[in-house]
Amino acid sequence: MLIRIDRGSEVPVYRQIIQSVRSQILQGILPVGFRLPTERALARTLGVNRTTIMSAYAELKSEGLIRARVGDGTRVAAGGNAPEPPRAVLPLRWSDFTRLSFRPTDDEIKRLLALSEAQGVVVLSVGFPALDLIPLKLLKTATDAVMTKRGASAFFYGPAEGVSTFRESLAELMNVRGAPIAPDQILVTSGAQQALDLVARMLVDPGDTVVIEEPTYLGALQVLRAARARIVSVPVDSEGMRTDLLENILERSSPKLIYTLPTFQNPSGAVMSNERRMKLLDLAYRFRVPILEDDTYGDLWFDEPPPQPLRALDRHEYVLYASSFSKTLSPGLRVGWIAGPRPLIRRLVQVKQTVDLQAPTLSQMIVDEIVRSGKYAKHVADGRVAYAERGRAMGESLKKRARGWAEWIPPRGGFYYWCRIKTPVPVSALAAEAAAMRVSILPGAACMADEPTESYVRLSFSYPKPEEIDEGIARLARVVRRVAAQQEQVGLAVEATRPAV
Ligand SMILES: Cc1ncc(COP(=O)(O)O)c(C=O)c1O
Repeated sequence: MLIRIDRGSEVPVYRQIIQSVRSQILQGILPVGFRLPTERALARTLGVNRTTIMSAYAELKSEGLIRARVGDGTRVAAGGNAPEPPRAVLPLRWSDFTRLSFRPTDDEIKRLLALSEAQGVVVLSVGFPALDLIPLKLLKTATDAVMTKRGASAFFYGPAEGVSTFRESLAELMNVRGAPIAPDQILVTSGAQQALDLVARMLVDPGDTVVIEEPTYLGALQVLRAARARIVSVPVDSEGMRTDLLENILERSSPKLIYTLPTFQNPSGAVMSNERRMKLLDLAYRFRVPILEDDTYGDLWFDEPPPQPLRALDRHEYVLYASSFSKTLSPGLRVGWIAGPRPLIRRLVQVKQTVDLQAPTLSQMIVDEIVRSGKYAKHVADGRVAYAERGRAMGESLKKRARGWAEWIPPRGGFYYWCRIKTPVPVSALAAEAAAMRVSILPGAACMADEPTESYVRLSFSYPKPEEIDEGIARLARVVRRVAAQQEQVGLAVEATRPAV
């Protein structure tokens, strides 16, 4: 430690000592822990009075730069560039930082998805299309054609609202579905999931009421929970949403939105009757509530086409229509769309821009190529036959193995059987035991906003190989028997348990 005193200076000596020691500490010249001379020794070295050193050390102590302990002398406590002794850093708990609306855990769904990738598991839980129905040749030919025709632009940024020729193709597709609409009333989204999310971002403030069906698509529940909507459910029966109960709800809760899956509902498979479609529109008009129609499965009918979409029946632009190529062509391309009134679409384009700028250009061009070639319609027709076969296989298997413990309404399209479990077993125990027996099922509570009063499971026939379906149901039947026997043994009161979604 080197201190020079300038006796001719106007700065008092004790101040000069403070400045010198302070600057040496802050520059790291005197490291943390460095032992300073005693007051007596420093006074002697500098030829000053001991009280001068005492005053200087007292001020440095009050600044926290030095500390004195009996038996340990006076040491440097902290400094600017001085290396600090290593301090334990606690791991960050990210869950403490996430927004409240994202806190409900999706662990159960995550576990199911992980299980769907495990070897030897019959996967009846997920709403995936069949892997073997992804038309690889068609996709390759279309990709080659796009690369030749469109070159680098296929790999470039595109318009936020979607590639213009593709929007024209989508308008034509809407026409075929009986709901003609102009291309500029369509926004291309990254799957139907994003269509739901963008609409929620656009229309729903925290605390706003949104009417949904019970049961409903679990991804929509996740979106609405993230938007912190107040969710009000209307039960679904074999004819779709119970519109007779809706009027009362609309009267009481003035919702911002009604979300409905009128055709091959996920998970119930229900198709809303024409009469109820008209009634729903009528109620929406009366109470001035927009409708979000999710028509992700409408093309996948078994024996006869379903009624026209709500959008086709809507005469007053109350219906926003969302759909997707995920189930009919490829979920990995991430292409869906939303069609509706121009002013809303324009604002949704702005929201879309803030989220991800645009849907993938290459994917849009590939789908456009396939639709324009006329091969999309043929591919969907083949898909209908294949899924109808799988649906029938599951129906036969359930008749053979599940009549005693479950009941269901056979679907007329889509991907799912929605089974009420008659045997008093907790569904969460059933799903856990089923996983152990290498069959995955979706507990019905995942598709409900509130605690269910009855036990349901959703069984999907789209993803397992046709020859696996019966094996999956056979395993499930064994699981039900086993869990029911366990329940009897322990004599537990049975209640439906809600997964954490
Ligand atoms: C009813 C419904 N809507 C939307 C989606 C999301 O589909 P996408 O892959 O197009 O985002 C699904 C997927 O399962 C669904 O079942």
